Amino acid sequence: MSKKHIIAPHGGKLVNRMRDGLSDDASLVSVTLTERQQCDLEMLAIGALSPLEGFMGAADFDSVCDKMSLADGTAWPMPITCAVSDEVAGKIKAGDKVALRDDQGRFLATLDVKETFKQDKKKQAAKCYGTEEEAHPGVKVVYDEGDTCLAGPIDVAVARHDPMFRDHRLTPVQTRAEFEKRGWNTVSAFQTRNPIHRAHEYLTKCAQEITDGLLVHPLMGATKDGDIPGEVRMECYEVLIESYYHPDHTMLAIMPAAMRYAGPREAVLHAIYRQNYGCSHIIIGRDHAGVGSYYGTYDAQEIFDELPGDGLEITTLRFEHAAWSKKAGGMVSGKTFPKIEGDQIFLSGTKVRELLLKGERPPIEFTRSEVADILINSMSKS
Ligand code: ADX
Repeated sequence: MSKKHIIAPHGGKLVNRMRDGLSDDASLVSVTLTERQQCDLEMLAIGALSPLEGFMGAADFDSVCDKMSLADGTAWPMPITCAVSDEVAGKIKAGDKVALRDDQGRFLATLDVKETFKQDKKKQAAKCYGTEEEAHPGVKVVYDEGDTCLAGPIDVAVARHDPMFRDHRLTPVQTRAEFEKRGWNTVSAFQTRNPIHRAHEYLTKCAQEITDGLLVHPLMGATKDGDIPGEVRMECYEVLIESYYHPDHTMLAIMPAAMRYAGPREAVLHAIYRQNYGCSHIIIGRDHAGVGSYYGTYDAQEIFDELPGDGLEITTLRFEHAAWSKKAGGMVSGKTFPKIEGDQIFLSGTKVRELLLKGERPPIEFTRSEVADILINSMSKS
């Protein structure tokens, strides 16, 4: 039997910017990273953003915004930049090395500044987020950061101080090794920033019919106010997987990326991350990575057909809006069962929150009772 191989990383080579023995140098100018930049730093350090080796320069920034590719033509959907205030930028010039620190001043990494440039925030907002509105939570983060970006490769001593979910915080190298150990050549990634409801569960089970394994891969970096905290979600994932998934075909690990809420462009970024983690497939359902009504229901699927160059190697598993049908007595989607007025059980996020706050479980066709109980319990404490 010929040995099959796990998918190659995006751009061909898995990057590793972690450096043993790299120590703090108090003589360097310090740059305090924002929450999103800290998440990006960790993703860069472990190779989840391969082939990037550091923060982007002006040529990549413009090319990514305008053409969805790096300057060398590799498909890439969103800028990964290190923007700083004018005050900090005034102390730094190309050729300098700077120390990157977290919000408590702890040393993380050094950045070899090859270039500094003024970012065009409105262009990034319009091209990558599809809106210039500050009401968009991802655009707001861009508008709130500095105007000058420091670009160049990073060398990382500590990717994150006091990381949460240590047991589940696997790097791409560790994740690939785990797939190999389990004998999985094809793996479906499930990106989520929510507890897993029945519709999510349906998508993941369909994916399990197609690939050797399922990686439940919740995003655990910076999210917006109102999203359910990571610790609560983790409890939900663990109980659900333990009760309703086959252990031989299911794996849970977290991804430390920040959420950008950029819909289609972010879906491509999510796919690049997962290809780097060794997943051959990624689930993209309705309004993936969307927020409010900024994106069309299936924009995040269609964008994969428009990628420049060779696009991505990872395959998208595209799902239509899924919900429980009373008539069918199971989960259906627009592709599997005709729409009948009043047949499907659909609850808005607001409605679900209202029920949980009152201590009431949403219908079992919407959320498993074990998950509902964890959510009710967490809300009664907050
Ligand atoms: S996301 O920001 O991570 O995309 P969420 O956690 O809600 O948000 O969704 C995880 C994945 O499930 C995404 O691919 C999303 O498109 C998909 N999804 C969520 N709900 C449904 C649904 N009812 N039908 C089909 N796909 C869905």
